[in-house]
Amino acid sequence: MQKMKKIFIETYGCQMNFSDSEIVASILCAGGYEVTQDLARADVIFLNTCSIREHAEKKIRNRLHALGPLKRKRPGLLIGLLGCMAERLKEELLEEEEVLDLVAGPDSYRQLPLMLDQAVSGIKGVNTLLSVEETYGDISPVRYGTNGVSAFISIMRGCGNHCAYCVVPQVRGRERSRDIHSIIKEATELFESGYREITLLGQNVNSYRWDSGDGILRFPEALQKVARVNPRLRVRFATSHPKDLSDELIEAIAVNENLCRSVHLPVQSGSNAVLARMNRRYTREHYLERVEAIRRKISGCTVTTDIITGFCGETEEEHLETLSLMEQARFDAAFMFRYSERPDTPAARKYPDDVPDGVKERRLKEIIALQHRLSLRSNRADLNREFEVLIEGDSRRSAAHFSGRNSQNKMVVFPKNGQHPGEYVRVTIRNFTSATLIGELLPA
Ligand code: 5AD
Ligand code: SF4
Repeated sequence: MQKMKKIFIETYGCQMNFSDSEIVASILCAGGYEVTQDLARADVIFLNTCSIREHAEKKIRNRLHALGPLKRKRPGLLIGLLGCMAERLKEELLEEEEVLDLVAGPDSYRQLPLMLDQAVSGIKGVNTLLSVEETYGDISPVRYGTNGVSAFISIMRGCGNHCAYCVVPQVRGRERSRDIHSIIKEATELFESGYREITLLGQNVNSYRWDSGDGILRFPEALQKVARVNPRLRVRFATSHPKDLSDELIEAIAVNENLCRSVHLPVQSGSNAVLARMNRRYTREHYLERVEAIRRKISGCTVTTDIITGFCGETEEEHLETLSLMEQARFDAAFMFRYSERPDTPAARKYPDDVPDGVKERRLKEIIALQHRLSLRSNRADLNREFEVLIEGDSRRSAAHFSGRNSQNKMVVFPKNGQHPGEYVRVTIRNFTSATLIGELLPA
């Protein structure tokens, strides 16, 4: 019998990309390959890439250069580049990166077995056609390298928002939603095979819509359908666009206990003028009102965000408005970035990237320092509180401790006492850092 060829997938970027890698694994396993976690044994190496900031692309270029010597040592080894950077740079990548055998954008993964066959015969291929309907809805992702407890389910692809700074609409194409039946089926199968937490993924899940034949199903309803798969299955979602976060969605979370008490709501800036230049289509006031509504209607809900500092034309006053919004919103955690101009985005075409690097750096430092204080404040408020924690596995620091999350999406670490990953336990919080809660188990 012929030995199965082994693929190794290295994933960069967002959760959506990690979810895509599982789709790639599924397509290739059906095409006669198997996944390996051991790079040294791989016949094919894929890098599933991200283009969101220049730094992400630089990292991947460096990785490709590091793979050069390996390829020279092992003739026959194939290297492919997938994902957003493939879509953005297309043929250019094959010309510039000698090490590459194929380049495939996010909507072309069904072609990968064919492209690999051609690559074996020495034909290098590029497929970056974007689709208006591909959702890979019929494909059951192969969950490799997983903790067996939490998983992602893509419910949408593409993006229809056109934020001025963002490369995503360009590299992931038109927004489309996946068939609700295939989403429910996947969630049910995950629960049956022991998973206890799923995150529904889309660039803007709030604009999910599925025409079920007798009406349009929107996100709050879809979310509740998934919640009803089983009360012991926790359900999260990412990401929400503040302009579309409806009262119905807040209400849906409030009344379904297994819909997690945490909302990730990227604000990007606290200044109305910057938000307008970013084409975010909401105001600071609207954003703060939404945060208020979340906190009022969903008891104990955390709110996390993304912030970009140093966007085109950002003045010192506008930066201060971001700091003051952070204080007002009392974010529990945040991902914070300095603006990175991406070629061919509306911002790159319209505005100069005119905030000097040193200023971006200093503003980012101020934002990070403030968030550090806010995160500490948020975690301090949890002292002596009791939470239900879903055990994900060993804590990174100590094999004598488990780590898991509470419904609020905070990482909780506590000493093991005979439990197993995938179990729910009750933990009282006794200590904290800005990133982790440290607790002790309560008797079952
Ligand atoms: N520069 C810096 N950060 C960006 N993001 C998106 N595009 C850019 C860019 N050009 C950030 C946003 C988004 C997160 C995923 O990445 O904050 O919410
Ligand atoms: Fe994800 Fe955006 Fe990066 Fe693509 S460019 S991997 S969609 S973060």
